[in-house]
Amino acid sequence: MKRYVLANLKANKTAKEFTTWLADFGTPPQTDTVEIIVAPPSTLLTQLQTERAVGLKVGAQDVSPYPLGAYTGAIAAQQLAELSVQYCIVGHSERRQYFYETDVDIAKKIVELLSFGITPVLCLDEPYIASQAQQLSEEQRTAVIIAYEPKAAIGSGHTPSVGHVEEVSKNIRQYFSSVPILYGGSVDELNCEEFLLVTDGVLVGTACLDGRQFAQIVAKCAAH
Ligand code: PGA
Repeated sequence: MKRYVLANLKANKTAKEFTTWLADFGTPPQTDTVEIIVAPPSTLLTQLQTERAVGLKVGAQDVSPYPLGAYTGAIAAQQLAELSVQYCIVGHSERRQYFYETDVDIAKKIVELLSFGITPVLCLDEPYIASQAQQLSEEQRTAVIIAYEPKAAIGSGHTPSVGHVEEVSKNIRQYFSSVPILYGGSVDELNCEEFLLVTDGVLVGTACLDGRQFAQIVAKCAAH
């Protein structure tokens, strides 16, 4: 079974710090059992594309809900695709909370990403599993990866029980039957393996900020 490990660097790292991060992370295990995705801020996507080690996949943290055009400040899916972006996080609770993104906005982003061959990593918490699914066609629902991200677990150091993650994954499966489901929220090198018992991978925030720590998480997931 293929595993996914996604580093969400959020709005962290200068170019110089990211060079250090890539050096600290080193060379990932050369195996096709684990898909290792790094999602830096968009200012560092070019750097990731050129300096990344073999085997690292390029991810983005956000995309415009619109195509190329007069949308000041936005980055279109077509522009991400040019930078070798293969995955893009959408619907993160921080985007919903601080940028007021709605299920409808997120559905538009998914349409843009899919039309340029980029796989959306759709973040869901329990309150909006059903409402978000309703905004997507059957075809779109089979073309995404889901990250179950309980808001209370994000950045808090508190994780739900594995049983709870399994339970919610079953609920997600009612709408997204055949796609990989990841867990995200205070994942680290000590707890990542337990979430792999009930999911297809992990989305890592705080614990990916140190390249060496992220490498440890990747190593555990690759060996699992
Ligand atoms: P965290 O963040 O690992 O710091 O909880 C995860 C996320 O927000 O995706």
